[in-house]
Amino acid sequence: MLVLAIETSCDETSAAVLRAPNGDRPQGGRPFLAPMGTVPLNGLNGDCPRSGTVPLDGRSSAAPEVLSNIVLSQDEVHAPYGGVVPELASRQHIKTIAAIVGEALTRAGVALEAVDLYAVTQGPGLIGSLLIGLSFAKGLAYYHKKPLVGVDHLEAHLEACFLENPGIEFPVLGLLVSGGHTALYFMEEPLSYKLLGKTRDDAAGEALDKIAKFLGLGYPGGPVIEKLACGGDPKAFLFAVPRTKDRSLDFSFSGLKTAALKHIREHGIVKDDARLPDFLASFEDVIARALVENLRLAADAVLPRSLVLCGGVARNTRLRARFQDFARQAGLDAYVPSPKLCTDNAAMIGALALKKFASRPDAAADLDLDAYARA
Ligand code: KG4
Ligand code: ZN
Repeated sequence: MLVLAIETSCDETSAAVLRAPNGDRPQGGRPFLAPMGTVPLNGLNGDCPRSGTVPLDGRSSAAPEVLSNIVLSQDEVHAPYGGVVPELASRQHIKTIAAIVGEALTRAGVALEAVDLYAVTQGPGLIGSLLIGLSFAKGLAYYHKKPLVGVDHLEAHLEACFLENPGIEFPVLGLLVSGGHTALYFMEEPLSYKLLGKTRDDAAGEALDKIAKFLGLGYPGGPVIEKLACGGDPKAFLFAVPRTKDRSLDFSFSGLKTAALKHIREHGIVKDDARLPDFLASFEDVIARALVENLRLAADAVLPRSLVLCGGVARNTRLRARFQDFARQAGLDAYVPSPKLCTDNAAMIGALALKKFASRPDAAADLDLDAYARA
């Protein structure tokens, strides 16, 4: 079975083709022709992970094979504003989606007629952007009379871990850290998601993006901060790990953002400052510590067998290292997707759709499927 997946929840236009484990080989045929003509594909990322079809120790089923996973970033469009401008994001998706879907099919060597299942992100995300992907996927599914599966973007981020590691043992505790969300999930079994805690204000990625914007460092802030913090002393600036008053598993990052702004003002830190690497390393480190501290509390409470870390901020080396350190101390298996599967991509949408469809074929949606902005 071949799935064509589309992801347009925020500022990446992405399409992927995946083959279900033990599925048929892709068929040749007429390539998909983008009806909107040629668009410039600056920033196109088309790495094709060809992820594992090999079961791990026979513990679990195999993962789907990623035949293509095309991601077109809109960073250049939003960079002048220091953050995503929703209306510009929607317009950009409209301009590029047909070409991105066409590119995903071409690189996979799959004709549109050979697609068995369509998958699309339903939410949460920017409503205008979501509607473009959703409408495009509905049109294809309707015309080709094939089932369509709507996928939750946050559940798909967690699925990115299973795509590369199908043998992860349950129960699983998942830490999802992206630009819009920071949350802890307990998964007792595949496709079950219990939300243990989430951010009460800013997401971790949002805090990084906002501080980078304030200092005029560029957008998106996370990767810029990581680069500039390299070699900095994470203990140079004092930050306290935030805790919610009721000791819940929720996160809060707005206090850290305020503390960072206070340091910036008090120490007169500017863009080209010699103390910038120390400051950014300290800020990045306290965010990683706050995330892993809540993970530790959650692990004590639910006693998982495995830990997973996902979402765009999971690309961060300091966070990955702190996560792995904790897992080692706790004696738990730990998994983080490879960097290209951490940030938004359609392969994770396709992988989750295949799993959902295999477990409940009747869950395929009709044309009433709607987008939702909030989790
Ligand atoms: O998951 P994602 O691609 O989109 C959302 O669903 O939000 O995550 C984007 C977030 C942005 O806040 C970006 O600054 C952050 O991920 N990010 C990073 C790194 N790469 C991306 N944060 C820290 N270090 C990185 N290397
Ligand atoms: Zn995301």
